[in-house]
Amino acid sequence: MNNPGRALVLGGKTGLLGQALTTVLTDENWTVFAPGREDLSLFDPEEIASFVDKNEISHIFNTVAYTKVDQAEDERNLAYELNKKLPTLLGNIAREKDIYLIHYSTDFVFDGQKNTPYTTKDKTNPLSVYGQSKLEGEKSLLDNPWNKLIIIRTAWLFGPGRSNFVAKILDLAKNREALNVVHDQVGSPTYTLDLAKYSLELIKSAGHGLYHLTNSGQASWCELASEAIKCAGLHCRVNPITSSEYPQKAVRPPYSVLDCSKFTEITGIKPRSWIQALRDYIFRDS
Ligand SMILES: NC(=O)c1ccc[n+]([C@@H]2O[C@H](COP(=O)([O-])OP(=O)(O)OC[C@H]3O[C@@H](n4cnc5c(N)ncnc54)[C@H](OP(=O)(O)O)[C@@H]3O)[C@@H](O)[C@H]2O)c1
Repeated sequence: MNNPGRALVLGGKTGLLGQALTTVLTDENWTVFAPGREDLSLFDPEEIASFVDKNEISHIFNTVAYTKVDQAEDERNLAYELNKKLPTLLGNIAREKDIYLIHYSTDFVFDGQKNTPYTTKDKTNPLSVYGQSKLEGEKSLLDNPWNKLIIIRTAWLFGPGRSNFVAKILDLAKNREALNVVHDQVGSPTYTLDLAKYSLELIKSAGHGLYHLTNSGQASWCELASEAIKCAGLHCRVNPITSSEYPQKAVRPPYSVLDCSKFTEITGIKPRSWIQALRDYIFRDS
């Protein structure tokens, strides 16, 4: 980009995706502000608006969310505060200031009853409080869309800087002979640094509205764990188990692979495969 922007990355100090965005935007010569929860009151619209004015922000990236999928079943109000109220508030500020809002959402807005990748036109039907609250956040933005709004649904993130499924599996595999991992949930594993770079490409291509964006390919949690262990050169057997053998409070979709063709049509980019991305993460960044 000839004239890089000035970004406010919410979650950019400590979040899994937020830190990747901070890294990639900084590498691309953007001016980046990444306040932590102690630096900026997220639910004070006046404080955010004055931060935007003072720092001449051109793009708000919102990666802040209530992401504890099981805990959200018991903390419904907090999940809705972060996943619906916050994007609504940010949308109002962005529209008023005529700046970009890039907001992230999830594959868990779907119920997983399809067996081919979900497009942005497919019917949503979240199975969990987390999924419902994220969908409500999307809807509140899309109810009143403008041409500087981008909503990116993504999935199954791994990357440096914060705990994630791949990092946890590799830690466990160092000390165990075998691990039991669910094989009847299939999704789109995605590397945060790739997602951050592709998000920037979407902005450069003047994308607006709703997109799906993940690495290419699909895997079950069991396949993702096996590939990560193999890649890291560890010797730990991975036993496939069913979701019913690993009960969790929130219900997950059995299939939530996302179709990213709308992203490819506008940018000309086909995201690389999750297996290639996983190798980069394990060899370079983990
Ligand atoms: N992770 C995934 O596999 C995945 C999959 C699909 C979609 N997504 C979506 O992608 C986006 C980014 O996810 P992520 O995994 O990067 O999230 P994350 O690592 O859990 O980061 C969340 C960020 O939000 C901040 N935050 C949470 N509660 C807060 C509060 N009450 N006040 C202020 N800040 C608060 C956290 O700050 P602290 O560090 O201070 O807590 C952290 O910086 C989210 O919209 C998520 O729904 C994620």
